[in-house]
Amino acid sequence: MSYKEESRVINENIFDLVNQLAKKERETQDKTYRNNFFNENKDYFVLTEDNSYSIKSKEINNKIETLHTKTGAISESFEKFIKPLKLDYSNDIAILDICGGLGYNSSAAIANFQENSNKNLKIDLIEISKSTLACGLFTPSPIEAHNITKKTIENELINQNYLTLNLEPTKIPENIDFNIFTDDARKTVQNLKDTTYDAIFLDPFSQNMSPELFSTDFFKHLRRIIKDNGIVATYTSSAPVRNAFIEANFHIGQGPIFGRKQGGTIASPNPEMLNLSLPKNDEIRIALSDVSTTFKDPNLNFSSNEILINRANEREKVRHNTKISSAVKSPIFLTKDLKEDEKLKRRVERNLIKMNIPSTTSKEAFYILEPENTYQNTQNRTNNSRLRILEMEKRLNKVKNKEIIL
Ligand SMILES: C[S@@+](CC[C@H](N)C(=O)[O-])C[C@H]1O[C@@H](n2cnc3c(N)ncnc32)[C@H](O)[C@@H]1O
Repeated sequence: MSYKEESRVINENIFDLVNQLAKKERETQDKTYRNNFFNENKDYFVLTEDNSYSIKSKEINNKIETLHTKTGAISESFEKFIKPLKLDYSNDIAILDICGGLGYNSSAAIANFQENSNKNLKIDLIEISKSTLACGLFTPSPIEAHNITKKTIENELINQNYLTLNLEPTKIPENIDFNIFTDDARKTVQNLKDTTYDAIFLDPFSQNMSPELFSTDFFKHLRRIIKDNGIVATYTSSAPVRNAFIEANFHIGQGPIFGRKQGGTIASPNPEMLNLSLPKNDEIRIALSDVSTTFKDPNLNFSSNEILINRANEREKVRHNTKISSAVKSPIFLTKDLKEDEKLKRRVERNLIKMNIPSTTSKEAFYILEPENTYQNTQNRTNNSRLRILEMEKRLNKVKNKEIIL
């Protein structure tokens, strides 16, 4: 079975109901099925705190996720995906929306564009599942701009012979060129042109459900197709995801906090497009801990499980070899005096010694962490999270390989 067929990505009940509806519409050309769908199946939609609706995923790797944060589905789009962008509205704008789902991120982008620009907007949205797009069409629009998205979804689903009726009244403005790709994002990105996008929204399920969309190899394509001042926005603060951006030659910074404890991540080829550095401890964990071992998918065709298993094996290999064990958060105690907690000190130092770091307050520990001494909150070409991370990583390996005498 292909990856795409396996990806019954939304809750199975609603998936089946949407497919039945589409079949009935194709067979009868009767618009009442579509018009009644939301009210008859409201229980499958999740009302979030800002009154916009979300849906649930199917069970993947024993987990069910909601497509959006319960704090507010459409608010998350504005807060996490639109706010960090520094779009130059004096020029035409091109946006890639990866994992378009119900189309909220694209709709928020349209609303923001219409408020600020009279130039042209191009949006390419990638969503693997037609039934998820159809849910976007049936869900009450949380903002007016979502009607433009609905019309685009309807056009695409008719094009694909999934639906047949032209029921959406909204006209797509002439300065908006909105395309939908219903495919695996890994396949679509390979055909997108170099240096095309001012912004990329990266909104998959979590890394345990969709590691294939957080791999270094996938991010290398994002690096290829983004403009030099472009920004990738994603909600996750995960160390392997952030490290994958580094490996794919991006700069990374802290994204806005919304509906979660930690800020998301923004990435750009240009550090000056990113306001905030990552928090210090995050930089240290990415540089030094085995937790930052990235997901790999060299030919962009591994299954999620293959990617997860390969990463677990790789993580084990690098532990005590090129990275410090993440057990008891050892790396973040470098340079800290743990006198007060002898037990923790013993456990941390057991891990450090394997990397030839004699203690938390040894010369080696201070040498490795020295790049953090020039830490500043804002980023520029010479002072930024990426440079500090790479330098700490290099120093750790020099210490491990005894290439430096301190
Ligand atoms: C968290 S939801 C995205 C929500 C969406 N951004 C919105 O505004 O409604 C994740 C989406 O990724 C889609 N998806 C999963 N795997 C995919 C893949 N390989 N390529 C493209 N889309 C995928 C799912 O169908 C799901 O709609």
